[in-house]
Amino acid sequence: MPKIYTTQARYMLHGGDYNPDQWLDRPDILADDIKLMKLAHTNTFSVGIFSWSALEPEEGVYTFEWLDDMFENIHRNGGRIIMATPSGARPAWLSQKYPEVLRVNAERVKQLHGGRHNHCFTSYVYREKTRKINRLLAERYGSHPALLMWHVSNEYGGECHCHQCQHAFRDWLKKKYNNDLKSLNDAWWTPFWSHTFNDWSQIESPSPIGENAVHGLSLDWRRFVTDQTISFFQNEIVPLKEITPNIPITTNFMADTHDLIPFQGLDYSKFAKHLDVISWDAYPAWHNDWESTADLAMKVGFINDLYRSLKQQPFLLMESTPSAVNWHNFNKAKRPGMHLLSSMQMIAHGSDSILYFQWRKSRGSSEKFHGAVVGHDNCSENRVFKEVAKVGQTLDELSEVVGTTRPANVAILYDWETHWALEDAQGFGMKTKRYPQTLHEHYRAFWERDIPVDVITKEQDFSPYRLLIVPMLYLASEETIARLKAFAANGGTLVMTYISGIVNESDLTYLGGWPQDLQEMFGMEPVETDTLYPGDKNRVRYQNRSYELKDYATVLKLDTADPVGFYEDDFYVDTPAVTCHSYKQGKTYYIGARLSSQFHRDFYETLIKELSIQPAFDVKHQPGVSVQVRQDEENDYIFIMNFTEKRQPVVLESAVKDMLTGETLTGEITLEKYEARIAVKTKK
Ligand code: GAL
Repeated sequence: MPKIYTTQARYMLHGGDYNPDQWLDRPDILADDIKLMKLAHTNTFSVGIFSWSALEPEEGVYTFEWLDDMFENIHRNGGRIIMATPSGARPAWLSQKYPEVLRVNAERVKQLHGGRHNHCFTSYVYREKTRKINRLLAERYGSHPALLMWHVSNEYGGECHCHQCQHAFRDWLKKKYNNDLKSLNDAWWTPFWSHTFNDWSQIESPSPIGENAVHGLSLDWRRFVTDQTISFFQNEIVPLKEITPNIPITTNFMADTHDLIPFQGLDYSKFAKHLDVISWDAYPAWHNDWESTADLAMKVGFINDLYRSLKQQPFLLMESTPSAVNWHNFNKAKRPGMHLLSSMQMIAHGSDSILYFQWRKSRGSSEKFHGAVVGHDNCSENRVFKEVAKVGQTLDELSEVVGTTRPANVAILYDWETHWALEDAQGFGMKTKRYPQTLHEHYRAFWERDIPVDVITKEQDFSPYRLLIVPMLYLASEETIARLKAFAANGGTLVMTYISGIVNESDLTYLGGWPQDLQEMFGMEPVETDTLYPGDKNRVRYQNRSYELKDYATVLKLDTADPVGFYEDDFYVDTPAVTCHSYKQGKTYYIGARLSSQFHRDFYETLIKELSIQPAFDVKHQPGVSVQVRQDEENDYIFIMNFTEKRQPVVLESAVKDMLTGETLTGEITLEKYEARIAVKTKK
């Protein structure tokens, strides 16, 4: 199988967001940038992200000369450019002359000019203006040898509730419901609280979203926001695809910051299909005071495995900070060694780049204290700069890893629509649904054992996996259920948990009990979901051990399933909590309660053995060390990373070559606090 290349570059990209337009009256600084870029071992810069006012200071007046110089200078020095389209922020003249481009919030208040990421995504004028400036950029730089990739806009997100968007939403609904208002009323269960519509014009976007009583409306609105954002993006790329068909296109995705859970504003599983390359902006709060370094590393692994799996190919880390950010409550610096370690973790999970926000700290405005490669001291001698240069030197040694993949036998299913619908659901524990955090808990069992996992979405192919884990799939259409059934019928092992298969794609509950297809494949039916207070205690007995449960306990009615775990207390004492069922060629398990990490460890250990699932490279180690492998036909690239504050001995299954020192590593080796070792093993 040929390597899949993320970009046309055959080396790891290192660099980041560069804003020379903030320094055009300081040629000395611009000259220093070029010198410092070399010292930092950087090679790639994202330029023009918020440069519209520097490119078109007045309507129709273009000043591209500074950007011409940038292309030349960076090219002359061996660098490449990821060219951004500037729609993330617009010049004041544009908002002033065409106020329709300004976003209207959910309370129907039109926003003033200023800030960024606040355009109307339907606005005809804004679409026309962005297409125009993008065309000019493509015409001018499309054949420049420094152009590596298009970075379309920046972190698309948010929503607009203006009149144009309401019209577009209604048109979207008419199309979806075949112009039949009755089907919409049926799908949204509108007789509830007298919400029945008898004219399309009565339909409005939810305000404010999240407190809307008609859940079908909220769900469709979120789907519309995704589609409309993609439509805005597609409009942006028309000239890029036309003029530069061979230049890959990306836009930078995000994650919610506290728990590094997927960004909720857009369904990235849909967006991914329109991109050549997935890229995303990762800002984990290393050294925080609410979790261990290893816990956070596990979450970083999870989100990377989700974004990598969206296209089943390497992705790019488009933004990260070399030191601290400026928007956490407490903006703590990365401790010595953490920058290299956290960067290697991104590469280990499939990134072909380490790119930063930002190359140079701005002098004024809100990001002047955000971490950067170059600080206000303009110096290469400080700790941060040196650690960046070390990452650059390390990446220089890892070119052969570019384009390699991470085959996995295990998949965990994450679903944006379930996440949205569960957040809306008034029921269960309002604060304890914790859908993505629940996925983390299942992922943890594999991360701790260095077993590669794909985090996939529901429309992806399930057949490559031996084990498919589907926690809390609250919203499951008949189609998804049928696909899960086919997976198990054809020999797959399927694990499902409490609060799954409750509503269909319109957020309408299934009537007459759990869907028949699910009952058939699990050989049982969940009949009651008990929601517990945080202080409630209960336990489940499984394979002669007792495990703590919290938040949810489901009462099960068994048909042909075997009970393998039992409640120890409450009115369902001694009734089944965990079941196993042989279904056609495969096997299904249902976990009825939210059980402890130790349960997941033990439960999955049994399945891992049964299914002969192995880590890609076996290293014996203590908790907090992670071993991740990228592979191609010839080689395994092994990343051994110590996410603890202690020196750690590890034992390697066989001899490997250290990619940085060239030495042979064998038997027991030692990793210092936060150390990463990268080794290669040639396949026989
Ligand atoms: C990102 C954004 C960048 C910068 C950065 C700061 O979300 O794309 O432009 O603001 O955050 O961490």
